[in-house]
Amino acid sequence: MEKPLLDAWRRARAERRRPMQVPGHKLRYLDDAPGWAHELVGDTVRDDIPLQGGVDDNAYSNDYLGQAEALWARAVGAEHSRFLVGGSSQGNIAALATVGDEDTPIAIDRTSHRSTQAGLVLIGARPLWVYPEIHPELNIPIGMSPRSLADLPERVNGFFVTSPSYVGTISDVPALAAVAREHGEPLVVDQAWGAHLDFLPGRGAIAQGADFSVTSVHKALLGYTQTAVVSMRTGIIPRSTLDRWVDLTSTTSPSGTLMASIDGARAALEEDAGRRLGVVIEAVATARQRLARVPGLVVVNDETAGCPVDPTKLTLVLPGTGADGVAVGEALWRMGHGPESADHDTLILTTTVADEPEWIVAFADLLGDLIEAHRGEARRPSPLSIWRVEPQVAMTPREAFLRERRRVPLREAIGEVSAEQFCPYPPGVPLLAPGELVTREALDAIAAAATTCRIAYCSDSSLETILIVSR
Ligand SMILES: Cc1ncc(COP(=O)(O)O)c(C=O)c1O
Repeated sequence: MEKPLLDAWRRARAERRRPMQVPGHKLRYLDDAPGWAHELVGDTVRDDIPLQGGVDDNAYSNDYLGQAEALWARAVGAEHSRFLVGGSSQGNIAALATVGDEDTPIAIDRTSHRSTQAGLVLIGARPLWVYPEIHPELNIPIGMSPRSLADLPERVNGFFVTSPSYVGTISDVPALAAVAREHGEPLVVDQAWGAHLDFLPGRGAIAQGADFSVTSVHKALLGYTQTAVVSMRTGIIPRSTLDRWVDLTSTTSPSGTLMASIDGARAALEEDAGRRLGVVIEAVATARQRLARVPGLVVVNDETAGCPVDPTKLTLVLPGTGADGVAVGEALWRMGHGPESADHDTLILTTTVADEPEWIVAFADLLGDLIEAHRGEARRPSPLSIWRVEPQVAMTPREAFLRERRRVPLREAIGEVSAEQFCPYPPGVPLLAPGELVTREALDAIAAAATTCRIAYCSDSSLETILIVSR
């Protein structure tokens, strides 16, 4: 199995060079090397080798990165891929900027990650928000309907959807791609949570017809934290346009270690040819069956959701058990098994190829017992506002971001235009964003979300004030 970047990283690590250039830690902390302040920083930088002047030379003469990116592209059926160390956040910004411009709106899923708004700020495009369908009882998104993209009131400059969703539900990407093709516009799929799908034949977004996909290698695969890849088919847009935006948003000092972990993850998945993924998927199916025996618990799967669900995800809807997801989540965290996300009604657990199948099944039993221990009186699910935000857009995110702003008490801001994001994390979908009118519903939703998680990216974390656009 070819893995040019990983091999080069290993060679660089074995050489034990003594550079008279960056990195500042001078590669003095490899394993047992006793550099200055070893006990304070040694183990955190032990494996850190820069790409430039480390894994490759200063001129990138060997183009190990380019070779590794080409191998990734080939593996996922793309024509061009770029490795990123700014996460799928960077990928979303670069992909959006590649397809959009200031003059024509872009159709974007309003349940998309907060990073899409950074892309909009960068290029000045107006979002034409589109909304996934919401399951009437489970209150979770169950995929973007092709109709939502087909029936738009005006011409758009491309379509942006999130699949899998944060809860693991998957959209009909081939049908969405067909709509995009009819309009002659590109389809971007934020597949941050679905990097593994690229290694299941015919399941990845690009394989299913998307023009661009953004995927976190650190989420569903084995990459270092922060690693992601943006991939594209060429045709509608030249690859140099994507390169331009990736380069604009990238550090000039990428970590060779992070990048090599992307190459290693790809090689591992290709070499394994789906066997490990198959075993994990089987274990998750067993885990789901066991959890489904817990009275009142809804296990989200293809049948209960009514749409395809990521076969590696465990998403549970708790109200029928009376258990509080926040309390169960806290108990899991204390046990060292922190969940991906926990609100009062929903628990989301991520499994990957790094999990042993026996552990996944044992964890399901442990979780079932924990839910029993928290059992209470069954209740109705509370409609979670995060998936249902339908903002009134007063100006573009860019205008709101750049205009003069002033601070007012939050409750006095109704009717004003927000200059900032209020973003429950997880899942990182803004309840209110720059350019959107502050409404009573938005403020109530923020207050409710604050009872279960951190409200991120607003300037006053006490939630007493807000920055609004000055009139
Ligand atoms: C749907 C979605 N897209 C993009 C991102 C950003 O990913 P990253 O953390 O790799 O920047 C996230 C993060 O949680 C996400 O949920």
